[in-house]
This record gives sequence, C-alpha cells and structure tokens, in this order.
Amino acid sequence: MKLGFVGTGALSSAIVAGLKSLPGKTTPVVVSPRNEAIAAKLAARYPDVRIATDNQAVLDDCDTVMLAVRPQIAREVLKELRFRPDHHVVSLIATVSREEIAALVAPAAQVTKALPMPMIARLQGATIICPPDPMAAAFFGRLGGVIEVEDQSEFDALSVVTATYASYFKYLDTIHAWVRSQGVSGGRARDYITSIFKALANAPDTAPDEDFMHLAQDYATRGGINEQVLRELTERGTFDAFADSLERVHRRIAGK
Ligand SMILES: NC(=O)c1ccc[n+]([C@@H]2O[C@H](COP(=O)([O-])OP(=O)(O)OC[C@H]3O[C@@H](n4cnc5c(N)ncnc54)[C@H](OP(=O)(O)O)[C@@H]3O)[C@@H](O)[C@H]2O)c1
Repeated sequence: MKLGFVGTGALSSAIVAGLKSLPGKTTPVVVSPRNEAIAAKLAARYPDVRIATDNQAVLDDCDTVMLAVRPQIAREVLKELRFRPDHHVVSLIATVSREEIAALVAPAAQVTKALPMPMIARLQGATIICPPDPMAAAFFGRLGGVIEVEDQSEFDALSVVTATYASYFKYLDTIHAWVRSQGVSGGRARDYITSIFKALANAPDTAPDEDFMHLAQDYATRGGINEQVLRELTERGTFDAFADSLERVHRRIAGK
C-alpha cells in the first residue's frame, strides 16, 4: 500500500503516529504540505513519511488516499483534483456523505467513509467504516479496532456516540470539583477518579452479555448511595435531556 493524506492536521497526524507505532514492515506515507508545521514534524519524525509538493502530487504518488480536510472546504479542494479509477479513497470528512464524496472523486471507484478518533495515535478506540471494505477494515483493525456497517443510517447513528466525550469529561470534572471543595488536593482526587473510571470502563468486558443498564443496576444496591444518585438524576430529567441532545446531534449529522 502507498498511503497518502490530503489534509495534514490533527487526525492525519494521529493516524500516522498509530501506524508508525506498529511492529513489522512499515507503510510509506505521503502527506499534503498543509498544515506545514504538522507535515514537517511527521516527516522529521518518521523516515518514510514524505511531504508532497501539493495535493495533486499526493494523489499521483499513492494508491490509497485518506481525505482529511475540514468539511467546510472539502468540496472546493476535491473538485480541483484528478483522481484515478484505481484510487482507493477513504473519506474521514465528517458530515459529508459517501455519495457526495464519490461524485467529487470520480472516476475513483472504491470510496469508503471512516470515522477514526484521535486516540488512534495510541492504538485505541475503534473506527467505524461504511460500507464494509476489507482493505480499510484491515488497516483500521490494527489501529485500535474496526466496526464495519452496511448503511449510512447506521453509520450516522453510531457517529452520535462521538459527540458525548466533552460531557463525559464534564461529568468527571463535576465529581472532581466537588471532592476538591471538601479540601482534598486536586492531584489526589484526580488520581482516584481516574483509577476508578478506568476500572469501570473495563466492566462491560467482564460481563459481555449484560447491557449497560444491568451494569448500572449491579452497582445500584437498593437503598445505597449509587441508587440515590441515579434516582435523583433520573427524577430531575438529566438522562432525558441527554437523550434529547443525542437526538438533535443525530439530526445535524444526518442532515435532517
Ligand atoms: N479531529 C477529530 O477528532 C476528527 C474525528 C473524526 C473526523 N474528523 C474529520 O477529519 C477531518 C480533519 O479533521 P482534523 O481535526 O484533522 O482537522 P484539522 O486539524 O483542521 O486538519 C485539517 C488540515 O487541512 C489542512 N488544509 C487546509 N486547507 C487545505 C487544502 N486546501 N489542502 C490540503 N489541506 C488543507 C489544514 O491546514 P492549515 O492548518 O494550513 O489550514 C489542516 O491542517 C475533518 O473533516 C473532520 O471532520 C476529525
């Protein structure tokens, strides 16, 4: 595989870092010259990462191309480029549909949408791809896992999960701020919260047949403190408000 990136930003950089951390034979990579500083950093760090003179030179020098420019400029950038029928195109551009990308990159026949996350740099966090694509599945499978989906609507629904990270950290921050307000040092509170939530993140693996609500109930001993917080937040409509937000994000992602 000769891999190219059009758009060398945060996500491309994370993918290259993950890829280059794998043992065994390395995959040569060609990146577009923008962002200049990120491209230079990657080329300095990895001997087989090269900076192309422009976006077209990326395409001319690779068989597999990841599109990683921001959605706002994607159409303008792609319509200037000449793709070949044998180019394998993987679009990482959120909020632009596979159909629209396929029209913009014609005559490239193989077009796949993928949603990797920045944690891919540390080989963590699965990438959703649509439609199923053996090459992309093998590629992302080695970089933290892959989930292949048949249709765009399933892809869009799963994409909503990625909108919840910031509120997850706000949840942890609320706990952290409260514990600190009781006079506990920030570092000690952070260490404890981090340790406990890492352990909780492993709970679904230890009980693979249980849904998340069963796990919640496992921890919500009747009359206990977990049951109290769960009940109070539920009664105040916290989780209903959260579900409403997911609904609105979904409408935005799916363009409804
Ligand atoms: N970051 C994420 O967590 C994430 C997750 C899933 C999907 N995505 C998608 O991945 C894509 C990239 O996201 P990102 O976070 O990596 O964005 P980013 O850091 O802004 O990277 C985009 C890069 O494109 C470069 N660029 C601008 N104009 C260009 C042009 N004409 N030709 C080639 N490159 C150009 C920018 O360079 P300059 O700095 O010089 O302008 C920038 O470095 C987006 O479509 C986003 O929707 C991102």
